[in-house]
Amino acid sequence: MEYEEPKFFHVMQYAGAADGDVIDMVSGNPDWEPPATLREALREYADLPSAEFQYPPSEGLLELREAIAERRNVDADRVVVTNGTGEANYLAIARAFERDAGDEALLMDPVYPYYPGKTDMLGGESTLVPTERDGGLDVDAIREAASEDTALIVLNTPNNPTGAVYDLDAVREVVAVADAVDALVMVDEVYDHFDLTGEFESALMLDSDRVIVTSGFSKSMAITGFRVGYGIFPEAHVGDAKTRHMLVNVAGARPSQYAVHHALAETPPSYYAEARELLADRVDAFTDALDAAGAEYTRPEGAFYVLARFEGFPGTMENVKRLIDEAGVAGMPGDAFGTARGEWIRFALVTPRAAEAAERLADYFGD
Ligand SMILES: Cc1ncc(COP(=O)(O)O)c(C=O)c1O
Repeated sequence: MEYEEPKFFHVMQYAGAADGDVIDMVSGNPDWEPPATLREALREYADLPSAEFQYPPSEGLLELREAIAERRNVDADRVVVTNGTGEANYLAIARAFERDAGDEALLMDPVYPYYPGKTDMLGGESTLVPTERDGGLDVDAIREAASEDTALIVLNTPNNPTGAVYDLDAVREVVAVADAVDALVMVDEVYDHFDLTGEFESALMLDSDRVIVTSGFSKSMAITGFRVGYGIFPEAHVGDAKTRHMLVNVAGARPSQYAVHHALAETPPSYYAEARELLADRVDAFTDALDAAGAEYTRPEGAFYVLARFEGFPGTMENVKRLIDEAGVAGMPGDAFGTARGEWIRFALVTPRAAEAAERLADYFGD
């Protein structure tokens, strides 16, 4: 299988080897604490009888699936606990292609690079569909691109890399397009707790038998290393997703699921609200500095990222390296995210040094 190593690794390596002090705004690892109850549950787990160290049910611990189902207001049978949202995305994309309803996935441009990677791995064809300048959905463009060959439409909201949060009515229109061409719609909601309004509207509210929602706890509980995510599949597809999950993984990791279950039950809404406040403050500090640097950007409505464009300094790999060497700030080249934002650089705000990085950028680009 041909697969180009993600640019992410390349930039991280370059930044790691750089001489000076470099602020990492590349990775999407939250830098704040997980819920306190998650740490407690992990300690408790270490002393459980060894029977609790054996295989969990393949589709996930029942109590965790039930807790997810209750929060998402769906039947627990529809929930498959996966190794991160990444696996849930894989299951959804695989399911779309095995239906013999076409080979094409419509992906929004700019795109989270693992979607075209997985589409390709699964024998599908990616078509990039432009979004609005602010990252919002262009439903007409999706309608125009959709055809009999379209098996899947992939949405991600709140969005990486644009920070857009899609309007639920626009998502509803996309589902209608999918209906017309017999496609599934995968909605990756891994940043659901990071809709900065705190009022995220999930695609599950549409109650459509074409919609697969994927999400996970990597971001919301600041535990990207735990690998706990989930997919909520329509009844007609959940059986196949569970089978594929079992054949690929046997099961997920029990200690991670145990800890997440406890944290889910015992973490107050204020935990998530505080993380949003922290991010909102960083967005303010960072965008103020972008103003001072004369950059173009869209203010994120959600997720962790800001895309910025500096006049005369396109977001190529070469310039990203220059920024590491000369300004001490590492971002991601825009062309890692499809074709729409080759001029732009993505900065992840999950560093306590976001304000300092902003000052460095303002100094570097400012007059
Ligand atoms: C849009 C999107 N989906 C999925 C993932 C992967 O999430 P997980 O760690 O739950 O597999 C990421 C991680 O950055 C992401 O940005």
